[in-house]
Amino acid sequence: MIFATGGIKGGTGKTTIAVNLAVYLSNLGRDVLLVDADDQGSSYEFSSQREATTEGKMGYTLIRLSEKSVRSEVLKLTDKFSDIIIDTGGRDTISQRAALSIADVYLVPFNPRSLDIWTLEPVEKLVSEMQIGNPKLRAFSFINRGDSKGTDNQDVSDLLSESETVTYLNVILTNRKAFANAISYGLGIAELKPSDPKAVGEFKNLYDSMIKALKLK
Ligand SMILES: Nc1ncnc2c1ncn2[C@@H]1O[C@H](COP(=O)(O)OP(=O)(O)O)[C@@H](O)[C@H]1O
Ligand SMILES: [Mg+2]
Repeated sequence: MIFATGGIKGGTGKTTIAVNLAVYLSNLGRDVLLVDADDQGSSYEFSSQREATTEGKMGYTLIRLSEKSVRSEVLKLTDKFSDIIIDTGGRDTISQRAALSIADVYLVPFNPRSLDIWTLEPVEKLVSEMQIGNPKLRAFSFINRGDSKGTDNQDVSDLLSESETVTYLNVILTNRKAFANAISYGLGIAELKPSDPKAVGEFKNLYDSMIKALKLK
């Protein structure tokens, strides 16, 4: 399966989700390729840190690609890996479109803030355009860095669930220090010590609810 993380907003958690998915799937024993298709290189930086932390036993393969090669090089590698995760940047770029031209699943995190929600419409438009050439593409939204209290999560989840193009996964990854800490050590959320079981559970929920939604159609 080819997963792409993306959207039209920076700092929403695209890299956090991409690297956690890479670690999670590789810990299940799958052959995983993580593609850093963002010029900022955050997945690459994470993987360098992970390589040091795990003494070379990262568990997945990391490559960096940009623009049209995101499509052409990944297509050459699809037979070699069970899962490919492409981390794209937060803008409508050639790299992101190249990823969406071959992806099965598009994961778009939203922070529960107006500036994030206002990008839903351009994301829907991007998905509709990409589905013309890649009809198998399924797009999912979810809340990342959700608030621990207040009503903003609910307001945003109401808005996201109205979309017909981008399926809302009813899971919230709360704003938790553990997610940021794990990243800085090059670890997946379930590998962090001391463990944060709530954070681990939230990521697992996201994965399970995505798999469930994929089976529905
Ligand atoms: N659920 C979360 N809880 C706390 N911090 C988070 C969470 N998700 C992401 N972050 C932090 O937010 C920042 C942006 O996340 P990142 O994954 O780099 O976003 P993007 O790739 O969309 O730009 C990083 O510092 C990251 O550690
Ligand atoms: Mg990123």
